Amino acid sequence: MKRDLLTLTDLSAEEIQRLIDRAIDLKVRRQRGILDRPLMGKTVGLLFDKASTRTRVSFEAAAIRLGGGSIFISARDTQLARNEPIADTARVLGGYLDALVIRTYAQQTVADYARYAAVPVVNALTDDYHPTQILADLMTVVEVKGDFKGLRLAWVGDGNNMANSWLNAAAILGLELALACPEGYRPRADLLEKAMTAPGAKVTLTTDPKEAVAGADAVNTDVWASMGHEGQEAARAEAFAGFTVDSALLSAASPEAVVLHCLPAHRGEEISAEVLEGPRSVVWRQAENKMHMAAAILEWLVK
Ligand code: CP
Ligand code: NVA
Repeated sequence: MKRDLLTLTDLSAEEIQRLIDRAIDLKVRRQRGILDRPLMGKTVGLLFDKASTRTRVSFEAAAIRLGGGSIFISARDTQLARNEPIADTARVLGGYLDALVIRTYAQQTVADYARYAAVPVVNALTDDYHPTQILADLMTVVEVKGDFKGLRLAWVGDGNNMANSWLNAAAILGLELALACPEGYRPRADLLEKAMTAPGAKVTLTTDPKEAVAGADAVNTDVWASMGHEGQEAARAEAFAGFTVDSALLSAASPEAVVLHCLPAHRGEEISAEVLEGPRSVVWRQAENKMHMAAAILEWLVK
């Protein structure tokens, strides 16, 4: 039976660990010039409703690097834009492709594609979740810290798709995750509740960024206004005052703390230019790791 990756909850802790190990392995193999071709003769389609630099190119490059092909499909250029139903589009695309990677607004949309397409569907970001990003972020933490177990991870900023996926990761893997979000910008309550009560996990939520960052080994942030929040930028900038990840805030973290940001970054808003470009930032490694993780995901899903 086909598998889909719509949220991290589609994966067990063992599967997440296996994907991280394999992504690191594929990265090393690529550095050594070893050619892996598990996708020979396979085609991956990317159907995107929202902008993307990293996720799009990393999945396309990963598909090609593994010996397969990729087709980018801008949803607005398809008959979807003229009201062809998802159920019809999914059945047709499923006949052409070996996997479908989708970036869109509603989580229900990726669920509908997964239901009607005969091939694996990967969520490449929805309003609710960004699972493939968190996998690349966990990989990055493992690379620089050796493991995610026993670490204190902090999330500073919007309770958005990234924060929701971190909560899923915390629940599945039993992570220590300290979130700081302004009032009114919390992550989903059901996910928070689940993570807070998950065995082995230690999850807290505060409105004080210093409290969340205190003693943290890895500090994560993301834009204050995500795709789909257009027009809310000013109100959000006001609500997120004091939530910038800058040197002053980082002084509360562990002296060895690293900083992650899924990018794109807004310097001077959620992160200072000094921190983003500074020695604690692992964001460029994190961005590169998206491709190695995409390769591990495609290798696992595409049969
Ligand atoms: N991090 C990330 O998903 O970036 P893109 O929006 O450029 O794909
Ligand atoms: N939270 C951001 C992530 C972008 C990669 C967004 O959804 O726009």
